[in-house]
Amino acid sequence: MTDFTGKVVVVTGAGGGIGEGYAKRFANEGMKVVVAEINEEQGQRVADEIKQAGGEAIFCKTDVSDEQSCIDCGNAAQEAFGKIDYLVNNAAIFGNMKIEGYMNVDIDYLNKFMAVNAHGCVLMTRGCAPHMPKGSAIVNQSSTAAWMHTGFYGVAKLTVNGITTSMANELGWRKIRVNAIAPGPTETAALRNTAGDYADELVKSMPIKRLGTPDDMANAALFLLSDEASWITGVVLNVDGGQFMRV
Ligand SMILES: NC(=O)c1ccc[n+]([C@@H]2O[C@H](COP(=O)([O-])OP(=O)(O)OC[C@H]3O[C@@H](n4cnc5c(N)ncnc54)[C@H](O)[C@@H]3O)[C@@H](O)[C@H]2O)c1
Repeated sequence: MTDFTGKVVVVTGAGGGIGEGYAKRFANEGMKVVVAEINEEQGQRVADEIKQAGGEAIFCKTDVSDEQSCIDCGNAAQEAFGKIDYLVNNAAIFGNMKIEGYMNVDIDYLNKFMAVNAHGCVLMTRGCAPHMPKGSAIVNQSSTAAWMHTGFYGVAKLTVNGITTSMANELGWRKIRVNAIAPGPTETAALRNTAGDYADELVKSMPIKRLGTPDDMANAALFLLSDEASWITGVVLNVDGGQFMRV
């Protein structure tokens, strides 16, 4: 497998849950990590814990729905580490999100939600791509919810899937690959806040009857980022215990 030592990775939403799992696993693989997170306390904690464990990390307060904030994050990564090899667009409004339908959701909330969950990956890609050399790679965080008629949360993830294929086309000439991971229900505090015990019910109908873990996602992300995946772009990879099978 690719030796990730010295590679530079930006992980958005890395202040907790799956993003924290990505950041810490990538650091364990020898990468220099930019923890790009809107929650200052959580983001700083993750960067500090990586450093205490002997890794290299910086915290960069980032709002993925704000264009200048994303540009600043790309510049901060360049300044700290000299380049960006990988970008993982994981941030989303997920824990404690409003569970409402299109007919009743507040329009300002919907617009903000889509700005973060759907288009945040575009702004971050625009902020980071100028610092990404040939051979670099991006992973966007989708969800199996994209195919499960789950209202605006799922529609945002469908948009992420579409952006993934569009950006794979757009950035291919620069030799930057763009793929996505679609996790099934994965054990995080945010999942419990949002779905509660329903997560355990979901698992009962799945071929592999357990929740996913952040490390399941990190394993898949490492593959998609690695040179072993150098001819894979524009793919949405389910990492979901068989929850949603596509043919
Ligand atoms: N946990 C699951 O079951 C599951 C399943 C499928 C997909 N996902 C996706 O995986 C990702 C992580 O999920 P999680 O369970 O770890 O949730 P989480 O809420 O713990 O992680 C999301 C992180 O994004 C941060 N964030 C929110 N808005 C931001 C913004 N504007 N700019 C920067 N950071 C921002 C949050 O502070 C948080 O740290 C999300 O994209 C989610 O949609 C999760």
